[in-house]
Amino acid sequence: MEFRQRVDEVKQEALEACQGAPDSQALEQVRVKYLGKKGSLTGLLRGLGQLDPEERPNAGKLVNEAKAEVESAIKHRQQELAVMEQQRQLEAETIDISLPGRPRPQGTMHPVTIVLNEIKRIFVGMGYSVAEGPEVETDYYNFEALNIPKDHPARDMQDTFFFNDNLLLRSQTSPVQIRTMEVQKPPVRIIAPGKVYRSDSDVTHSPMFHQVEGLLVDDHVTFADLKGTLQYFAEQMFGSHTKTRFRSSYFPFTEPSAEVDVSCIMCSGQGCRICSFTGWLEILGSGMVDPRVLRMVGYDPDEVSGFAFGMGVERIAMLKYGINDIRLLFDNDVRFLRQFEGQGGCC
Ligand code: FA5
Ligand code: MG
Repeated sequence: MEFRQRVDEVKQEALEACQGAPDSQALEQVRVKYLGKKGSLTGLLRGLGQLDPEERPNAGKLVNEAKAEVESAIKHRQQELAVMEQQRQLEAETIDISLPGRPRPQGTMHPVTIVLNEIKRIFVGMGYSVAEGPEVETDYYNFEALNIPKDHPARDMQDTFFFNDNLLLRSQTSPVQIRTMEVQKPPVRIIAPGKVYRSDSDVTHSPMFHQVEGLLVDDHVTFADLKGTLQYFAEQMFGSHTKTRFRSSYFPFTEPSAEVDVSCIMCSGQGCRICSFTGWLEILGSGMVDPRVLRMVGYDPDEVSGFAFGMGVERIAMLKYGINDIRLLFDNDVRFLRQFEGQGGCC
């Protein structure tokens, strides 16, 4: 009787442990504990030898039945656990197609790019084509051929970055005028957009900025053509109410020369920090191409005349979008740049 009770107890314990095993690893431990070589049911079988010979067959049968019951319980639990584990895995890996998609962050056009494209659009519409030149220039193209000989005081107008006596970072896009005229006979009608560099930095000056050069050479080109072209440009760029001011100025490669201001949109001409309290912001330099420059590239100033201009793209962007510090354009702060989302179409 005692033996039977002992078998029953162990069996009961094994069955409960089986049912309580939370995963297949735990279940394997249960199997080892009761049915393994040193398991308690196995131990009972071994202990049969100590019983009276007549009790042994019955007792053996009891233990074997218990073993069979526990084995089948383990098998059953194994199947249950396999189903549960598969279910858990499916849940973890499932793709919920009803969830909203994750948006991919999208860039926006930089305000300088938007304005550059707009400038190109306006001038291409007037029949200009787009020319380009190198950012690393020679002294000859950046200065000499533009009627600015060495030691000429006009060299100080633009604080230039030099590599050596001959090589420099171009301080203006005007060298593209020379490069174009050297390889092209009149009539010439080009714009030349690009980066230029000067040792210059404050709210309206940046050490790297963009200019768009313009050059038109043909028969009988007059200052009136220049004025009309730039007034048309300003109205296209800033709207038909835009006021421009042609201020007489000096450039060694144009005569006469004028700087062109646009009424300050930050203060509507009242005067503010951006326009240095003048109500106007300078956007470009211009003038009639100096006959000496024409002669230098082999054109005959008695046959042809021309006008040229060089505009500051960042200044135009500042005016157009009411940006009060040029450095904002180069800080790469997305909070600033996101404000131009949707402007200027797609890339
Ligand atoms: C020139 O660079 C002349 N090459 C323009 C020119 C071309 C005159 C053809 C005649 C004929 P200026 O140094 O003024 O000129 O610069 C032209 C424009 O560039 C300025 O009106 C201004 O809008 C812009 N600019 C000048 N310096 C800076 C700067 N550091 N940062 C941003 N914009 C600038
Ligand atoms: Mg100037």
